[in-house]
Amino acid sequence: ATPEPLRVMISGAPASGKGTQCELITQKYGLVHIAAGDLLRAEVNSGSKNGKLAKEYMEKGQLVPNEIVVLMVKERLSQPDSQENGWLLDGYPRSHSQAVALKELGFEPDLFILLEVPEEILVERVVGRRMDPVTGKIYHLKYSPPDTQEIAARLTQRFDDTEEKVRLRLKTHNQNVEDVLSMYQDVTVKVNGSAPKTDVFDQIDRLLAGLLEQRKDAIESL
Ligand code: AP5
Repeated sequence: ATPEPLRVMISGAPASGKGTQCELITQKYGLVHIAAGDLLRAEVNSGSKNGKLAKEYMEKGQLVPNEIVVLMVKERLSQPDSQENGWLLDGYPRSHSQAVALKELGFEPDLFILLEVPEEILVERVVGRRMDPVTGKIYHLKYSPPDTQEIAARLTQRFDDTEEKVRLRLKTHNQNVEDVLSMYQDVTVKVNGSAPKTDVFDQIDRLLAGLLEQRKDAIESL
């Protein structure tokens, strides 16, 4: 028998490094990365009615209403690849009601990672962040610059990546984080997210490897 696939949630303030760590986790563990923010930005770009409504909330740094978000995430989580390979939920759930909705649908994590980064670092990270529209990769002008001029020339900035907007997102995060944590106390691990990205990943890698090891041992002892 093969061990059950991993189910992981990653949470943290804006620019705490969720997307960056998810890239590294999926490369090594093959989990399906489901980022609520990315799903919403795709909806915004599609120009749909829901996308237009979502953008109004995103521009204010507020949570997009559950009517839009919950179904979107549920549909992605229910696809066969997430079921077969395991999933990595990024930026979801972000409120008590979202956590309850997930639980009712039967989605519970093996591990809930909370990235902890001091506020003064977050603003610098947001302002210097750039995205590659071709590969979806996340860069930072100072901490993670692109390797080639060609990539540098095509980088874009997110519409909510200004100091003013990140402060609004941070306020929303601080208002909700305890409610979400209270749902996952048993499986929560707080990780220091202010170290260089490879050091942050080493901490997460150890946690995930440990979980997989436990599962293999459990199967072998049957
Ligand atoms: P979302 O897209 O999830 O934004 P966020 O939570 O504000 O997080 P970010 O994407 O800004 O940051 P990150 O933690 O992924 O950091 P990254 O790795 O890029 O949500 C956007 C909006 O959508 C919300 O405001 C809300 O309106 C809506 N929304 C989303 N989910 C929702 C939900 N569940 N319900 C309702 N509404 C929802 O890193 C940031 C920068 O730092 C990068 O440049 C990176 O290169 C750099 N960096 C990363 N790690 C390090 C490191 N260790 N050292 C140095 N630099 C680093």
